[in-house]
Amino acid sequence: MKTLFVTGGAGFIGSEFIRQAVRRYRIVNYDKLTYAGNLDNLASVADNPNYALVKGDVCDAKAVAAAIPENCDAVVHFAAESHVDRSILSAEEFVLTNVLGTQVMLDVARHRKAKRFLHISTDEVGGDMRPDEWFSEDAPLKPNSPYAASKTAAEHFVRAAARTFGLDIVITRTSNNYGPYQFPEKLLPLAISNAMEDRPIPVYGDGMQVRDWVHVADNCRALLAVLEGGRSGETYHIGGGAPMANIDVLHLLLKILDKPETLLTSVTDRLGHDRRYAVDFRKTTKELGWRPEIPFDKGLRSTVEWYRDNAEWVRRCRSGEYRTYYEHMYGEREATAKRI
Ligand code: NAD
Ligand code: TYD
Repeated sequence: MKTLFVTGGAGFIGSEFIRQAVRRYRIVNYDKLTYAGNLDNLASVADNPNYALVKGDVCDAKAVAAAIPENCDAVVHFAAESHVDRSILSAEEFVLTNVLGTQVMLDVARHRKAKRFLHISTDEVGGDMRPDEWFSEDAPLKPNSPYAASKTAAEHFVRAAARTFGLDIVITRTSNNYGPYQFPEKLLPLAISNAMEDRPIPVYGDGMQVRDWVHVADNCRALLAVLEGGRSGETYHIGGGAPMANIDVLHLLLKILDKPETLLTSVTDRLGHDRRYAVDFRKTTKELGWRPEIPFDKGLRSTVEWYRDNAEWVRRCRSGEYRTYYEHMYGEREATAKRI
């Protein structure tokens, strides 16, 4: 069985990736467990013999080197600060984790002879798309937020490591993910949990900003396809194929929840807010046979169901209780990682 060294696996997308990949890989999950790292997300794999957790920072080269298995089959690098609004308030952690952390991961991967490095990036590196424009893999990068700027810098280090040191890298750029276990600071989980409690839903500016929503399960299927079949040095786009304005997304959500539109509350727009993202993922379909399978309305309904059925998960997120899980459940388990 092959071994993956996954960073940031306790977050929203990383945990879905681990839940899918643990069926056929041994996985070491290396995660700092910031506010975004939630071990509740991984409760279903916590006792799986193919899974181990190491708590650590991607900026800490010594700790990464100690945790990464020799000759591991691939590093899958999710760890990042991921929320645009936080990057506007303060960009420092974004530069540290997203840029320096990526550089450290590349160095350690090279020295420890990891066979492949899958870097998880975002469609936000392309910046605003015009109404008829689709972001293709070879288009120029034009990031507009501190978050997007840090992810762009990270990508450049990944490409540089391939060119300079011959590291086998693949990069994915995904559009906005949605689905279960997403921290309720991002638009959809925030809107779902607020609406369920009849609390206002903040709409930034005119609500006409367009995002291309892809279900996290579809995204992680694509990540596995790129990991296993992507050509070395290449970038692959992953999207939902149906960009929608935020306001239309929220109307659909309120309809599903049978809640009044009066919950929508216009608030001051985000600084520098990108108007439209739209990824062209035809290359991924053509080369790897992947395409999104979950239509947005169906995926949104099942996501709403998940949040309804998992009120305790939301409550633990909002109260901060999820952050005590590590000490209670994992304190003694760190050593297991070394055996994998
Ligand atoms: P998330 O914020 O839910 O999770 C991030 C994870 O990284 C957490 O588990 C956190 O504890 C960990 N982490 C943060 N700093 C760390 C550090 N210094 N060292 C080790 N671990 C650290 O993020 P997500 O939404 O799951 O996104 C995962 C990746 O996908 C990120 O690289 C993000 O840029 C990218 N991405 C996300 C989206 C999206 O819609 N969520 C879209 C495109 C790309
Ligand atoms: P978000 O989920 O933060 O993802 P990103 O900024 O990475 O696209 O936001 C999605 C869109 O929703 C974005 O256009 C900003 C907007 N938004 C709101 O209108 N209200 C909110 O409360 C949030 C969090 C986001």
